[in-house]
Amino acid sequence: MDLKGKTVAVTGAARGIGRALSEQFAACGANLALIDLEVDSLRDTQMACQRLGAQARAYGASVANESQLIDTFDRIVADFGRFDGIVNNAGILQDALLIKAKDGEVIGKMSLAQWQAVIDVNLTGVFLCGREAAARMVRLGNGGVIINISSISRAGNVGQSNYTAAKAGVASLVVVWARELARFGIRVGGIAPGFTHTTILDSMRPEMLEKIAAPVPVGRLGRPEEIADAARFIFENDFFNGRIIELDGGLRI
Ligand SMILES: NC(=O)c1ccc[n+]([C@@H]2O[C@H](COP(=O)([O-])OP(=O)(O)OC[C@H]3O[C@@H](n4cnc5c(N)ncnc54)[C@H](O)[C@@H]3O)[C@@H](O)[C@H]2O)c1
Repeated sequence: MDLKGKTVAVTGAARGIGRALSEQFAACGANLALIDLEVDSLRDTQMACQRLGAQARAYGASVANESQLIDTFDRIVADFGRFDGIVNNAGILQDALLIKAKDGEVIGKMSLAQWQAVIDVNLTGVFLCGREAAARMVRLGNGGVIINISSISRAGNVGQSNYTAAKAGVASLVVVWARELARFGIRVGGIAPGFTHTTILDSMRPEMLEKIAAPVPVGRLGRPEEIADAARFIFENDFFNGRIIELDGGLRI
């Protein structure tokens, strides 16, 4: 797909990887539908995309709220008159061990609230956005591209039962959707980033960042722009379908 003149939605576009994705697509000539809960920061992404010459609009919505989302997707089609792609990027963390114990006593558990909050945004949110995006692409008849942002943690990371389950789930959805939607000219791909220097990590002390980066074979964290480069590749390569790009500097967990 040539991104020039296409309408691409990015969830979680207010900061981090979502902002880098948006700027990358804007630089390629796409127009951007930017979705996030944090409307003030979303405006900064909107302005950055506009400075790159794109038409960009900000939509305050939660990916986990079905009625809000349906309304948002309807507005996007009405505003832009087309819908060519989406990156399901919005995500949260609420880490905890399944069971925390000391001296044979259980002193903590991952709560149902922690489990559900992450599943709602990182898995159900991707399901809802993928479904609503696909429905509109099928109706408009021009095909399109869906990208799910998974994670290196999909392999199973300690302290992340909720996040791992969601990120493994969205990777599986890439395969299901690629098979179901190919007949409509819709391709589906995924990216599983390793640890990437985003706003989440900005609050960490430098020594903690060094500790996270040390086992990465390339010796550093990823950059949001590098994740965005992979998303651009998926959009532009019409033979890419049903696969996940593992972009983690060679780290295994
Ligand atoms: N940074 C990393 O190391 C890393 C590694 C692997 C995967 N990822 C994944 O990449 C994606 C982006 O991560 P990031 O590091 O840029 O995070 P980030 O926290 O910097 O940005 C996430 C964005 O999602 C938005 N968001 C959260 N809940 C939302 C909701 N319910 N509806 C709409 N928007 C919502 C936030 O407001 C924020 O703008 C996430 O899915 C994350 O799991 C990140």
